[in-house]
Amino acid sequence: MALLEFQQVRRDFEVDGAPARTVLDGIDLRLEPGRTIALTGRSGAGKTTLLYLAAGLLRPTSGRVLFDGRPLGEIPADELALVRRRRIGLVFQNNLSLSALPVWENAALPLLLEGQTAAKSKAASIEMLERLGLADYADRPTTVLSGGQRRRLGLARCILGRPDLLLADEPTADLDEVTAADIERFMFEWLTANGHSAIIVTHFESIERAADQVLRLENGMLAPNSKSPSR
Ligand SMILES: Nc1ncnc2c1ncn2[C@@H]1O[C@H](COP(=O)(O)OP(=O)(O)OP(=O)(O)O)[C@@H](O)[C@H]1O
Ligand SMILES: [Mg+2]
Repeated sequence: MALLEFQQVRRDFEVDGAPARTVLDGIDLRLEPGRTIALTGRSGAGKTTLLYLAAGLLRPTSGRVLFDGRPLGEIPADELALVRRRRIGLVFQNNLSLSALPVWENAALPLLLEGQTAAKSKAASIEMLERLGLADYADRPTTVLSGGQRRRLGLARCILGRPDLLLADEPTADLDEVTAADIERFMFEWLTANGHSAIIVTHFESIERAADQVLRLENGMLAPNSKSPSR
């Protein structure tokens, strides 16, 4: 069974009584457990909208989104919040709830909450921070981080929380292309090796080979990226 499935999903947006605009149209997508998707498309193509639909934070205008075979629209709100907390990791710049704790501790929260020792949690956290280029900030308060650094911290925390499904919106957008591509490649490989599924929005063509599937949003529709090698 697919972990995540979009069935003929359409999403319209209405702004100030103007006629509704269709942003996504007839989206069909299947994400199997342990598989990853790199999602590309121009600004405004609907990438963030698609991630919100996948997380159940937005409802389709028509069509269905299924998680583990269950339509998200049929899961009661409180249960959906639990599913999101336990099984879906979200990395969006605007909704990161980071406390003023040191950076390493913020990243390690899932491990600490699981009951792992502080020493073990810190070691795992520092290793992940190193891999994501944030090691220099490990002992600093989270408040000193830039927006892009916060997003990467959110990513570190998400990965350490081992969600079944990771949804990340351009997690490395603050970095130069070489570093970003390196980090994203590591991320895709780590996720796949550990049996996690993910949809990651990326602008980097060079990263696309590390994902199982590369999809491009264009004119509201999803297409395989013609630039990606077939595999
Ligand atoms: N809540 C909303 N109300 C009205 N229109 C919206 C809303 N959210 C998104 N849109 C519109 O939907 C379209 C797609 O937006 P979306 O944020 O999904 O694009 P994107 O591909 O993530 O772009 P970017 O690369 O710039 O982040 C845009 O035209 C945007 O204005
Ligand atoms: Mg976006």
